[in-house]
Amino acid sequence: MSVVRYDTRAVLSGLPDDPYGAVGLPIYATAAFAFSSLEEGARRFATGEGYTYSRAQNPTNRALEERLAALEGAADAAVFASGQAATLSAVIALVQAGDEIVAATGLFGQTTGLFNHVLGLMGINVHYVPAERDAVAEVLSDRTRAIFVETLSNPDLSIPDFEGIAALAEAHGIAFIVDNTFGAVGALARPLTLGAHVVVESLTKWASGHGSVLGGAVLARRTDLWQRYAPYTTQNRQWALETLAIHGGLTPDPVTGARALPIYNTTSYVFRDTEHAANCLR
Ligand SMILES: Cc1ncc(COP(=O)(O)O)c(C=O)c1O
Repeated sequence: MSVVRYDTRAVLSGLPDDPYGAVGLPIYATAAFAFSSLEEGARRFATGEGYTYSRAQNPTNRALEERLAALEGAADAAVFASGQAATLSAVIALVQAGDEIVAATGLFGQTTGLFNHVLGLMGINVHYVPAERDAVAEVLSDRTRAIFVETLSNPDLSIPDFEGIAALAEAHGIAFIVDNTFGAVGALARPLTLGAHVVVESLTKWASGHGSVLGGAVLARRTDLWQRYAPYTTQNRQWALETLAIHGGLTPDPVTGARALPIYNTTSYVFRDTEHAANCLR
């Protein structure tokens, strides 16, 4: 984790070098990128380095990913069109038909809906238990691939046993995924520093600070995690999510990416979240 303060990372991290010295994030509103030669184009497609097409990657969205990774203490991040697109992508990058997930009771209703109605149809079985070590341990099987909890569950605001579940996940080689939407982009909680392997989050709530953007992100402590399961990992791309984002097309457009960038000023999420927390204590 960086020694630079959270507030400073919220202002400075991720901004690309800009020929005009812009201090704000430039919006690269382009679908495709030109190549200096056919060979250069072939190289970018083959290696995944550099920009080709905005569904695959775009400098504005990349800046958002780097800032989110800096704020959550992640090795890398991938952004999506909504929080639910992020959750779907993280889960299907790790789990396939016949596998099982253990999920906390009391999750956000549409996540339960996604798990029951969408993953159910894909042959993925979900067991719901309270987010405590012993309850999770009881339903683990040799097909369990992921444990899914929320930092503060929506709406009942319960807090999972991070330490116990992280130890269990580590011991069994299972991915520990935390929906950190209520952790407010790391301002209130950073589950990757508490043993989670993967964070998913809605950027819709706090990130932009104005409640006017739909977006989501997946962040990982180690991007090679996906190689352990790897239904989507290809030779060139270590991070399955990149592959999923490109093929699945769940990426946000760059205007959304720029608007979802967490910034630090008095109308932004950091200020609002510390105020929310102070309100709760009153
Ligand atoms: C905890 C939690 N996770 C995920 C989501 C879904 O986010 P989005 O609306 O960006 O898809 C929400 C939305 O309310 C939420 O509260």
